[in-house]
Amino acid sequence: MKKIILPILIGAIGVTFAIADSDKESNIYAKKTLTKQNAKLEPLYKKECSECHMAYQPEFLPKRSWKKMMATLSDHFGTDATIDKEDSKKILKYLSSNAADSKRVYGDFRKFLKSIPKDKTVMKISEIPYFKKEHREIPKKFIAQKEVKSFSNCKACHQKADSGDYSERDINIPNYGRWDD
Ligand code: HEC
Ligand code: HEC
Repeated sequence: MKKIILPILIGAIGVTFAIADSDKESNIYAKKTLTKQNAKLEPLYKKECSECHMAYQPEFLPKRSWKKMMATLSDHFGTDATIDKEDSKKILKYLSSNAADSKRVYGDFRKFLKSIPKDKTVMKISEIPYFKKEHREIPKKFIAQKEVKSFSNCKACHQKADSGDYSERDINIPNYGRWDD
């Protein structure tokens, strides 16, 4: 009798841990997207596109958005972000192959993508409907303050944004503190 029960018990414990684990990871999508396509182009993207703001994870936007963005860099949200033509091609390749609709994406990336109307080409992650929904409760004064300035400044609140981790336990709004909802 004992011989049969023990393996069953161990099996049950294993399953419980597996469920708890996958639940915890659903917020940390960096882990799920480690198989970056065209990974060798990532340093170039990070170098050229993190001068004025963080290098946003390509998984936040669909292909059509990156295509349009890379074609309009001379008028990039009111600034000139033009780069070398060859580099621009390589960066577009990196961004499109890792875009939300180019590979399997999980967690929040998936929810962001699903909320974008099919006939729209959004240019800002911070204007995606699911983004707005997630951030709607934050009082405006915490965005306007000089430590944040705009929603584009993810890192001001998401301490691990650079690594693609936006989980709630690592949110710290300047002059407000941790976010509990
Ligand atoms: C010369 C400065 C500069 C460079 C270089 C630059 N950007 Fe930007 N970018 C901006 C500004 C300014 C905004 C608007 C920020 C705001 O509204 O607060 C912006 C916004 C963005 C956004 C939208 C952020 C949001 O709110 O969702 C994306 C995506 C983006 N940039 C991608 C890129 C990519 C890709 C590159 C590299 C090819 C790049 N940027 C290089 C200045 C720059
Ligand atoms: C002013 C601070 C602030 C800025 C700037 C900000 N966020 Fe957030 N973000 C929050 C807060 C607070 C929440 C939690 C909202 C809630 O659950 O009520 C959140 C939630 C999220 C979530 C969902 C996390 C989860 O799993 O529950 C994602 C993804 C996210 N933000 C991405 C971004 C990105 C990408 C940017 C930049 C383009 C950004 N945020 C800019 C404060 C900020």
